[in-house]
Amino acid sequence: MVKISVIGSGRVGGSCAHLLAQRELADEVLLLDVVEGLPQGTALDIMQTAPLEDFRARVYGSNEYGDIEGSDLVVVTAGLARKPGMSRRDLLQKNAQIVQSVTGKISRYAPRSKILVVTNPLDVMTYLAFKTSGFERNHVFGMGGVLDSARFAYFIAEKLEVSLEEISALVIGAHGDRMLPLPRFSRVSGEPITELLPPDVVENLVERTRGAGAEIVSYLKTGSAFYAPAASVVRMVEAIFGDGKGSLPVCVYLDGEYGLKDVCVGVPVKLSPDGVEEIIELDLTPDEMSILRDSAAEVRKSIESLGLE
Ligand code: LAC
Repeated sequence: MVKISVIGSGRVGGSCAHLLAQRELADEVLLLDVVEGLPQGTALDIMQTAPLEDFRARVYGSNEYGDIEGSDLVVVTAGLARKPGMSRRDLLQKNAQIVQSVTGKISRYAPRSKILVVTNPLDVMTYLAFKTSGFERNHVFGMGGVLDSARFAYFIAEKLEVSLEEISALVIGAHGDRMLPLPRFSRVSGEPITELLPPDVVENLVERTRGAGAEIVSYLKTGSAFYAPAASVVRMVEAIFGDGKGSLPVCVYLDGEYGLKDVCVGVPVKLSPDGVEEIIELDLTPDEMSILRDSAAEVRKSIESLGLE
C-alpha cells in the first residue's frame, strides 16, 4: 500500500494527484489544502475520471493535517505564485512561512514519510523543509532539475527535429536564472549536443531553458506552468516507488559533495523507496563548477536573507 499526500490543491497539486492516480503510482492520494472545499471538489472531479481512465487508486480531499498520517511521501506544492506587483523577496518571505508551517505538520503527523518540495523558490524551500522537519537529508528533496531537463530536452528535439526518445538532457544547479544546463551531458542517440550543433545554437538552447518558466508566465500572464511541473513530480515518484533505475537531477542538501556545504541545489541522484540513495558527482569542468557555485551562492544568499540563523 502506497499513500501519497499532496499539500496544496492548486493547479500543480491537482494535476499531480490526477497523474498519480491515473498511473496507479499510489493506492491512496490525499489532496490537502487550507481552503475549504477546494481539495474535496478537486478530488471528486479526479475520481470521476476513474470510470473513463480505468484506475483503482483512491483520491480524496481534506482540510485536516491529521489525515496525512501514514503517508509514504508528502508532496509540498502549497505556496503563493508571484502576482503582479509582488517582489521575489515578498514571495520568498510568504512561502517560507507556509513551507515551515507545512513541514512542521508533516514531522508531527507523518514522521516516517519522505518530503518532495515543489514550492518556489525551490532550492530555498527545500532547505527550509529539511531544516524544519528534522528529517534525515535523504528524506527531503525538491523538484526542479527534472522539469528543467525536460524543457531542455524539448528544445533540443525541436531544434534538431529528432524524436524525444533519442534525447537525454541534463540540467543541474538551482531552479532559477542560474540553473546549469549541461550540453556535454545532453545527448542525442548517445552523441553530446556539443558535437551536433554550433556553440551559438547550443547557447541559445541553454538560455531558452533558463528562461523557460518565465516564457510561459509571459504568455499566461496570471499564472505559471503546471502540466510539466506536475509531470516532473510524477517522474520522480516513479523513480522512488518504481524501477529505481537511472538517475535524475534532484534538489538535495549537500554536505561537501561538489565542494558545497549547507545548501540545497539540484544534482544527479539515485532515488529509491528510501529517498535519495546516492548523490552522483559528475566530473565538471572549472567553468561548469563555477556556475554551480554561483547557483549555490544565490540560494545561500536567499536563505540568509530570511534571517533564520
Ligand atoms: C517554472 C516554475 C513554476 O519553472 O518553477 O515553470
